[in-house]
Amino acid sequence: MENLISMRDLSKEETLDILKNAENIEKGRSLPNLQGKLAALLFFEPSTRTQFSFDTAMKRMNGNTIIMSGSKHTSQQKGETFADTLKTIAQYSDIIIIRSPIEGSARFAAEVVDIPVVNAGDGSNQHPTQALLDLYSIKKTQGTLENLKIGLAGDLRFGRTVHSLAQALSNFNVEFEFISPSFLQMPKNIKEDLLDKNISFEESTEIEGNINDLDILYVTRIQKERFADPEDFEKVKNSYVLKKNMLDDVKNNFRIMHPLPRVNEIDTEVDNTKYAYYFTQAKNGVFTRQSIISMLLGEV
Ligand code: CP
Repeated sequence: MENLISMRDLSKEETLDILKNAENIEKGRSLPNLQGKLAALLFFEPSTRTQFSFDTAMKRMNGNTIIMSGSKHTSQQKGETFADTLKTIAQYSDIIIIRSPIEGSARFAAEVVDIPVVNAGDGSNQHPTQALLDLYSIKKTQGTLENLKIGLAGDLRFGRTVHSLAQALSNFNVEFEFISPSFLQMPKNIKEDLLDKNISFEESTEIEGNINDLDILYVTRIQKERFADPEDFEKVKNSYVLKKNMLDDVKNNFRIMHPLPRVNEIDTEVDNTKYAYYFTQAKNGVFTRQSIISMLLGEV
């Protein structure tokens, strides 16, 4: 593994290695030492969890970070190309972690620099480190990644987290329930990938009536920033609000996940139920990102 750009690039074995390494780190059986190593965090879109968990991950391994938040204070304002910015940052750092609203930007970065590149989210396309921490979280809550029924709800069209997660889970024997307004259905290419791998899925438009046989419900925000036409957003913005009284008949092992940030799609009264897992899920992001960075830097 030289870079981490898309879940499509990772085999099942590589995926399981990353999860095993993360577990060893969480349980204190392994602590990679990245003293003297420096990660460049280039974030051209807002972030709470991804940026801070990568920063935390580096520092917990004795490494350090340099952070670029947008291009406003860089020489791109003076006409420098994105490629030249990347080539320059690569002179100062050992690994580049990049988030951008432009699909394909992480792949482009990997082509122009000769240090590892990690995709921390590129537009509506992919968010592979989120998918890996999601797998890690599912395995922790269910004890396995096999024979599970997983519901993905919300913005399945523009949601990069659900694109990456569906592809990541397609290496395992799972069943999907896709819950979204028809305008925000899972893209055809992802559904075709699943069918190629004999992974079954159903599509519905309502949460109620579709969660009682699930092991995991993965809720996502309807992302205003991805809509070209604000009127389309207005039509679907309040499509779902998961409330406590909707959880009366769910399975005992049922857990609710969300990549966060949340707006209103999970009522805060759900936070105090045993089913809510989204903040622990965010914590799992540190172990998973420690695992990814240390493996890419050959420091396991
Ligand atoms: N899950 C996630 O990507 O969150 P941030 O946008 O806050 O990084």
